[in-house]
Amino acid sequence: MTELARVLFGREDIRHRVEELGRTITGDYVGREPVLISVLKGGTVFLADLIRQIQLPLETHMMAVSPYGGAEESMGRVRILLDVEIDLTGRDVLLVEDIVDTGLTLSYLLSILRSRRPSSLELCTLLDRSIRRIVPLRPRYVGFDCPDTFVVGYGLDFEERYRNLADILEVSDTTALKADPDALLSHLLVAG
Ligand code: IMP
Ligand code: MG
Repeated sequence: MTELARVLFGREDIRHRVEELGRTITGDYVGREPVLISVLKGGTVFLADLIRQIQLPLETHMMAVSPYGGAEESMGRVRILLDVEIDLTGRDVLLVEDIVDTGLTLSYLLSILRSRRPSSLELCTLLDRSIRRIVPLRPRYVGFDCPDTFVVGYGLDFEERYRNLADILEVSDTTALKADPDALLSHLLVAG
């Protein structure tokens, strides 16, 4: 029997990369007070680790969106379920995501944020699955390039499970996971 999933990015690789990203962002935003916005729920784990590697005053805010229908059929148009509660005019906004896939949802979200006239607007994503991109979109900060396979862990879910995995797993058989959504629970028990 082949393994259902394997570790794609381990917790130590993630920690090192997040430290590097934090250093880069600190250097790029020195003298400024960026507003980091995370999109619920996937991006929150990354955000929590990232902000502790940024040595600057900063603000964090959350947004929640829901696609009209499926992400692709809605062409990325989203309904905002939770919005930032501050005026973004003149602010340095950094949108923090878990993964950029087609880019449909994100480009719509970026256009909404751009309309609020921030003085800068950049995107930081832990994973970039650029091969799936439909809308041209290049994140300023990328943790890792991601292959075209389904991943879970470190904020990323399958049917709301596995966000709490410390590693990012690559799922080789999504059909088997659909049949048994708990199939990867054993990975939660493997001590690091
Ligand atoms: P898109 O870039 O508009 O296609 O949407 C990307 C969103 O889909 C991400 O923010 C994730 O929430 C979700 N997503 C995409 N790929 C994966 C994956 O491999 N595992 C878990 N969630 C994913
Ligand atoms: Mg997400």
